[in-house]
Amino acid sequence: MDKIPDTKQHTRNSLLTHLNTLQSFGMECVFAPENSSLVDSQSNVVEQLSKESSDEPMKKTLNKKAKTLDELQNKVIGDCKRCKLCKGRNNVVFGDGNPHAELMFIGEGPGADEDEQGIPFVGRAGKLLSKIIESMGYTREEIYIANVVKCRPPKNRNPETDEIEQCMPFLMQQIALIKPKAVICLGKFAAQTVLDSKIPISKLRGDFREIDGVQIMPSFHPAYLLRNPAMKRLMWEDCKKVMTLLGKKG
Ligand code: URA
Repeated sequence: MDKIPDTKQHTRNSLLTHLNTLQSFGMECVFAPENSSLVDSQSNVVEQLSKESSDEPMKKTLNKKAKTLDELQNKVIGDCKRCKLCKGRNNVVFGDGNPHAELMFIGEGPGADEDEQGIPFVGRAGKLLSKIIESMGYTREEIYIANVVKCRPPKNRNPETDEIEQCMPFLMQQIALIKPKAVICLGKFAAQTVLDSKIPISKLRGDFREIDGVQIMPSFHPAYLLRNPAMKRLMWEDCKKVMTLLGKKG
């Protein structure tokens, strides 16, 4: 049976994750009632919660907010040991592409090929993604690709909640630093993580949501399209909406 989480600690961690996401998008303060027992109204809420949390890895992340992708990759993430995925990985797959891209793609997590090469989407699903990118009128060098979790889950299993919670602030910082005009979230994990939603991908896909000026388009994961080729048509419809937004002819 699953361990029942310590509710207070769990609430703190969820709140920290949420505040960190807001901070990644440039929000510097939130308002709390003056007599709130949770935070001192004069102090930075994120700092205050970081001090109170016993979750060491999250504290480190918050204290080292990067100014560049390079700093995020090498100084903040570095040889990351914040979650159990570090045990089986060969490489931290940080992300790849143009740091000033107008279009960004977000996948789930590295597979075997990506783990080996340290580059996202280089396997079978990656080849299909490259075709989609080219059909949209871009090269891979012009766009940016990242994943929700930066280390390969064993046997390509789905990333688990604790792993996503640890890694998600890095993804949000990547988006904040790149400032793309549009992001295509590939599959359930990317879409639900970025949009902080539990809605199934079949319902989320196809409609833009906006986060701080960045247009987020949830769509299907290329690995799903390889298993369900009939869905490629729907994915292409989503891509065409993004192309219209970005003034691309394909
Ligand atoms: N699938 C993903 O979600 N990401 C990769 O980098 C490769 C396959």
